[in-house]
Amino acid sequence: MNDKLLCLDDISHSFGGVEVIRRFSLDIEPGEFVAIVGPSGCGKTTILNILSGFVRPASGRVGCEGRARMVYQHDGLFPWLTVAENIALGLRHIGDPAERDRQAADLLELIRLRGFEGHYPHQLSGGMRQRVELARALAGDTDILLMDEPFSALDYLTRLRMRRELALMLEERPRTVVLVTHDIEEAAQLADRVIVLSDRPARIRCELRLDLARPRDLTHPEVVDGIHRLLFELGLEEDRSDVRGDVFVDA
Ligand SMILES: Nc1ncnc2c1ncn2[C@@H]1O[C@H](COP(=O)(O)OP(=O)(O)OP(=O)(O)O)[C@@H](O)[C@H]1O
Ligand SMILES: [Mg+2]
Repeated sequence: MNDKLLCLDDISHSFGGVEVIRRFSLDIEPGEFVAIVGPSGCGKTTILNILSGFVRPASGRVGCEGRARMVYQHDGLFPWLTVAENIALGLRHIGDPAERDRQAADLLELIRLRGFEGHYPHQLSGGMRQRVELARALAGDTDILLMDEPFSALDYLTRLRMRRELALMLEERPRTVVLVTHDIEEAAQLADRVIVLSDRPARIRCELRLDLARPRDLTHPEVVDGIHRLLFELGLEEDRSDVRGDVFVDA
């Protein structure tokens, strides 16, 4: 198709009589972190489901080179398995038990849950559970993480911590990421590219590029500027293009 890792080419899709996506195209480079923001109900989850192959679009082409894994708003941990057993599920592809144990220990270290390996999900806080979910996703032999509002059920401070942890985890275990979020700050703090969608049927209104190393401070001038730009595009703030005019690329 082309040299992109993930691509949607002229996708349209309806559910019943409701047109959700109309002639939508998106290319994602290997290793890129793309955030998708847009109004509720505009088709963001549907786009992730099409990227993952879970929904087959009515028309258009989907290109996905590599294995994708979804991470949802609520963790999908098995309540009857311990933290270590839940993580081990993500490591089933590794044949050698010693190597599996070593990787499981590495991941526990990465999510700072050493000492909790014997705990069950109900014995953990929401943030801890979501960290285990992330570890499980990163443990897998997947190249692509498709994340649907993974932190939106967490409190504000935990969300800030999770962004930082995700950035650090990705540094250690790089992946291509597509993150759907309602959280403008989260998008500006994490993504290389933020796609702003219109109301349904989803269309790309514009995109913002942020060429900044991660983890990024929330107060970094470029992050703050990105947040203003996104709020403006969503009709929630006044234009500040007199301050910086070069960040947006109209789609
Ligand atoms: N399986 C389905 N069957 C019927 N309609 C669906 C289905 N999935 C999504 N829709 C409809 O498609 C539209 C887009 O839904 P989608 O879940 O993709 O939106 P979203 O942008 O993720 O919204 P939110 O921000 O609230 O999560 C909505 O109108 C929804 O009702
Ligand atoms: Mg959704």
